[in-house]
Amino acid sequence: MTEELINNKDIYFPSYLGTNDKLITLLNKASQTLCDWYSKADKNGPLSFDENFKCIMPEEDGNSAEKLFSEIETLLNNSFNPVHPGSLAHLDPPPLIFSILGDLIAAGLNNNLLAYELSPSVTLLEEALCKWFAKKIGFNDSAGGIAASGGTLSNLNALVAARNISGLGSDPNSVLLVSEDAHSSFIKCIRIMGLDSANLVRIKTDNQGRMDISNLRKSLDRCLIENKKIFAIVATLGTTVRGAIDPINEISEICKERNIWLHIDGSIGGIFAVTSIPIEGLNYINQANSITINPQKIIGITKTSSLLLVSNINTLVNSFSTGLPYISSKDNILNRGEIGIQGSRPAEIIKLWLGLRFLGLNGMEHILKSSIKRKNFFIENISKNKYEIYSGPLHIVSFLPKGLSAKDTDLWTQTKVNELMKNNFMLSRPKFKDKYYLRVVMGNYNTKDSHIKELLKFLDANQ
Ligand SMILES: Cc1ncc(COP(=O)(O)O)c(C=O)c1O
Repeated sequence: MTEELINNKDIYFPSYLGTNDKLITLLNKASQTLCDWYSKADKNGPLSFDENFKCIMPEEDGNSAEKLFSEIETLLNNSFNPVHPGSLAHLDPPPLIFSILGDLIAAGLNNNLLAYELSPSVTLLEEALCKWFAKKIGFNDSAGGIAASGGTLSNLNALVAARNISGLGSDPNSVLLVSEDAHSSFIKCIRIMGLDSANLVRIKTDNQGRMDISNLRKSLDRCLIENKKIFAIVATLGTTVRGAIDPINEISEICKERNIWLHIDGSIGGIFAVTSIPIEGLNYINQANSITINPQKIIGITKTSSLLLVSNINTLVNSFSTGLPYISSKDNILNRGEIGIQGSRPAEIIKLWLGLRFLGLNGMEHILKSSIKRKNFFIENISKNKYEIYSGPLHIVSFLPKGLSAKDTDLWTQTKVNELMKNNFMLSRPKFKDKYYLRVVMGNYNTKDSHIKELLKFLDANQ
């Protein structure tokens, strides 16, 4: 009966009548396949990829469910596995279980966040959740926000609005100031905005990886002399290589003095601001005009899940609204395709909402605190005689053996990454300025102290 149901190819879509037995059977089988894969992680390691993996393309005829499930299994078996405790390379934690459910519901719902008439409940949910976040970080009632597919796009939404609101929308002399440790996607943002790479002004960082304020002041004065017009300054709340936080209070004072839009790239650290975890600088983030928060990067909301919050929602309306002539509107409700770059968007806010409803503030705080604890445990126990450590208040650590020349960091990190991978630890090797570093990101809740001790054994064994 089950096999017959699964292989019945006459059913293409969910039925509006009856019990949808075939779909239920397929979903059950999919759940089983996924969970089997999770539980194989121990055997397969964080990344098991066969170089001979073949991408099979659609053919004349469709295929049976049986065949498709075997192809799904092959795909899974050749994938990065975020639930493995050795998955410590990037900002890609294990998926929160209620967020997996949220993704399923969002896919099945297939509502479109372009417009209220296509997604009434989810439109209201997204608006309310953005306002909830905005209030938590200290914005007032005129605030709001929009979900987007990742931190890059949230930042881009903010920068387009900043440039438009400053009246520099088509000015080729308009510049953006970011620290030299800011994420590489700002280069992409500048290109997309039709600007030259020279329009991205990089401010030097101090020895903790934070934007250097005296350097910022000098750069601002230089911009004035060179007739460059600044449309925004970005403060990074959690840099990619070492999790540093720019001095938000001082930067916000400068922005107020000079009437410049302050955007905070909180892709990594922004989520901490809705908890009571004491982290420097977080008290001042409500001084910003906009902030990116990217819950996919630590608390395990499934990708993609990123929010842009703005202190005044009208800045987004004024920057993006074109009118949607083929869509009906309702007074006092924004069609959400009108306040950001994207048009059609999935109902992915559901997985953030469900994830947070499931965790509560306490659960979220517990997950975030545990990531800091793991980072502290790692730093406390790594040999300070052997390694130079680069880390800030968040859960990211980059490190290098002492005395290694810039040239030698390439080979050392490559060799070490390969060796660790053979032992089921996946670390990354970011290139920053002229050196490669080994980086560990402690956002994996499945990683216990015993795993960290084992990792340290490999790091201590031989350099
Ligand atoms: C600080 C920071 N900003 C922005 C981004 C880009 O985010 P996404 O990859 O979600 O677009 C990243 C990615 O790691 C990041 O570390």
